[in-house]
Amino acid sequence: MIWHGIIEKYREFLPVGPRTPVVTLNEGNTPLVFSKHLSDILGVAVHLKCEGLNPTGSFKDRGMTVALSKAVEAGARLVICASTGNTSASAAAYSAKAGIGCVVLIPRGAIALGKLSQALVHGAKVLALDGNFDKALQMVREIARRHGITLVNSVNPYRLDGQKTGAFEVCDQLDGRAPDFHVMPVGNAGNITAYWKGYTEYHRAGRVKTRPRMIGFQAEGAAPIVRGKIIARPVTIASAIRIGNPASWKSAEAARDESGGLIGMVSDREILEAYRFLAAKEGVFVEPASAAGVAGILKLGKKKFFRRGSGATVVCVLTGHGLKDPDRALASAKKPKGVPARLESIMKAIRA
Ligand code: F0G
Repeated sequence: MIWHGIIEKYREFLPVGPRTPVVTLNEGNTPLVFSKHLSDILGVAVHLKCEGLNPTGSFKDRGMTVALSKAVEAGARLVICASTGNTSASAAAYSAKAGIGCVVLIPRGAIALGKLSQALVHGAKVLALDGNFDKALQMVREIARRHGITLVNSVNPYRLDGQKTGAFEVCDQLDGRAPDFHVMPVGNAGNITAYWKGYTEYHRAGRVKTRPRMIGFQAEGAAPIVRGKIIARPVTIASAIRIGNPASWKSAEAARDESGGLIGMVSDREILEAYRFLAAKEGVFVEPASAAGVAGILKLGKKKFFRRGSGATVVCVLTGHGLKDPDRALASAKKPKGVPARLESIMKAIRA
């Protein structure tokens, strides 16, 4: 079957009609890769949902195809968002495809290089705010409301409708079963809300018999949900989830509680360990925020959270591609060694 993106595939679950113009880059259909090393360590079957293989390199594309299609259907000529980077990259690309304008407000100096390049090259108007993501989101919400510009952050319900298709795909890829545990990083908390919605709708439609326990991880310096209070100045190397006041806070707690799950936190050191582990052992290159979920299950594993040999299935969503943040990759690896253009020298360096 030729893949035409998530709207075509899951149309019956989405708020689109026959006249909705579908703005798509053929997002979705991302690989679910079995992780031998994590499965061995934890004693359960761990699969990695590689969302970095979406058209702009993150899960945001699932939401953006629906948000932009609905925006164009409603006659919008301009969309706006605040972003830690990936939302802006995706909004910029889908707006380009739709042929409409896009404004993005980013925290100045605080988004990864790949994401900034994407927003710029797709022709968005990029504004760097003196303030963090939470402030940027507050400002674009106000501007969208006052000036009738379509907001494409995850407070736009179409975004979550698109992103819930990640849950459908996981169930389809597991041959009509939901995983026992669903693990992911949590920032603005839209994606955990969307996945829970997806599992719930698939369950209600009789496509799966069970729903997973939802397990989210925040970074220690940006863990408002875990700490139960707004963090005025969130800090973490995982810039994508450097958020102190998540817009979908309440619905993330509902996903956690209704599913019997948990939302925990991991340190930057644990995130970087998981980041290197995924790249070096599994051949999967993710951005730091995406490694938070894996860091989290390794931490839970140490506390014997998973029953070894229980046959349980764990799905970890790897939300964004490693190429998004090349600076981090270079900073966490050895520099290449220079060699003269002589066979003996090269062989000597190989053997060293
Ligand atoms: N992982 C990555 C790579 C992200 O970019 C984000 C959010 C998350 C996880 C967390 O998802 O916000 O739904 O809980 N990035 C947003 C952005 C905030 O602006 O790109 P969430």
